[in-house]
Amino acid sequence: MLVTGGAGFIGANFVHYTVRNHPDYEVTVLDALTYAGNQASLDPVAGRVRFVRGNILDAPLVNRLVADSDIVVHFAAESHVDNSLAGPAAFIQTNIVGTYTILEAVREHGVRLHHISTDEVFGDLALEGTDKFTEQTAYDPSSPYSASKAASDLLVRAWVRSYGITATLSNCANNYGPYQHVEKLIPRQVTNVLTGQRLKLYGEGLNVREWTHVDDHNAAVHLILDRGRSGETYLIGSGDERSNRQIIEAILAAMDQPADAFDFVPDRPGHDLRYSNDSAKIRAELGWAPVYGDFREGLAATIDWYRANEWWWKPQKAATEARYAALNR
Ligand code: NAD
Ligand code: TYD
Repeated sequence: MLVTGGAGFIGANFVHYTVRNHPDYEVTVLDALTYAGNQASLDPVAGRVRFVRGNILDAPLVNRLVADSDIVVHFAAESHVDNSLAGPAAFIQTNIVGTYTILEAVREHGVRLHHISTDEVFGDLALEGTDKFTEQTAYDPSSPYSASKAASDLLVRAWVRSYGITATLSNCANNYGPYQHVEKLIPRQVTNVLTGQRLKLYGEGLNVREWTHVDDHNAAVHLILDRGRSGETYLIGSGDERSNRQIIEAILAAMDQPADAFDFVPDRPGHDLRYSNDSAKIRAELGWAPVYGDFREGLAATIDWYRANEWWWKPQKAATEARYAALNR
């Protein structure tokens, strides 16, 4: 199994999950170790997986590694909306051209692909409604990040239809858990508390996200690898929707902080209002259900992980906050 982006948040947790549950798999990680990648995230499986530092844009390297694999699970991406607004170029290269590079290699070698994507490709939903995205929802991305992921999904579908490659796709809601970069909402606020800084809420904090534990996401990916049908898309989401304000309040309460220890900061341009996935298809067809039923328990475990693993996140913290300060966020 070739795992691209396996030194990132979801990819590293996927590799841990795979080694834990499928000790017979031979796993190779291909990761460029951008600012978002951290080889130390693979320390718990050191000696159990092969690590190749390299770029998915390097076609000869990708071709060689794909030729040696039975299956490719493609996580590598530029993944942060705020960064895509500040500088979209890397998103076009990695997310679109990088996915194209992988598609050409799996086509040449007849290797099966699973493409990891996001519900952000659908745009957003009204704040007040109870409607959800489905596998049939039209693509309508808002940010350079989501537009580049939408493009990559469409390339995968076209390669299935036109070239007959074997590939599946999944679009998951927001993930949380250990090893997530401190630029993202939950780790940023938790590490702000741990470094004595105030929490930061964009706009009025009303925007809603659906939060899925990273292990539940990765369990779903394994079900798709085992039993998913080629050409099919599966939406993944816990059903647990929360406003950003509720998330901040939950973090402050869990960390024994005053309820007002946060600042409202200028909103993100084009800020998507609400995301919510209808995951009925993967639940019915593949029997997936989230194990992390209680968000507060999952959040408490995640907070404990950041408390215990300062060595992992501390080196990224100051540079991340400097990037936010330049954006006034
Ligand atoms: P991340 O930013 O934590 O990790 C991305 C990894 O890809 C890093 O290790 C980085 O070094 C690597 N990478 C980036 N560019 C590369 C390149 N050109 N060549 C090789 N490696 C490269 O991202 P994440 O949050 O783990 O997201 C993984 C995937 O899941 C992405 O495709 C993302 O769109 C998708 N996704 C994320 C979420 C979420 O909540 N984080 C939700 C749904 C879907
Ligand atoms: P993020 O973790 O960047 O994920 P995404 O934008 O892909 O959903 O942000 C989640 C939500 O939290 C999003 O609505 C923006 C908001 N947010 C804040 O309010 N404050 C912050 O410091 C960050 C990083 C995000």
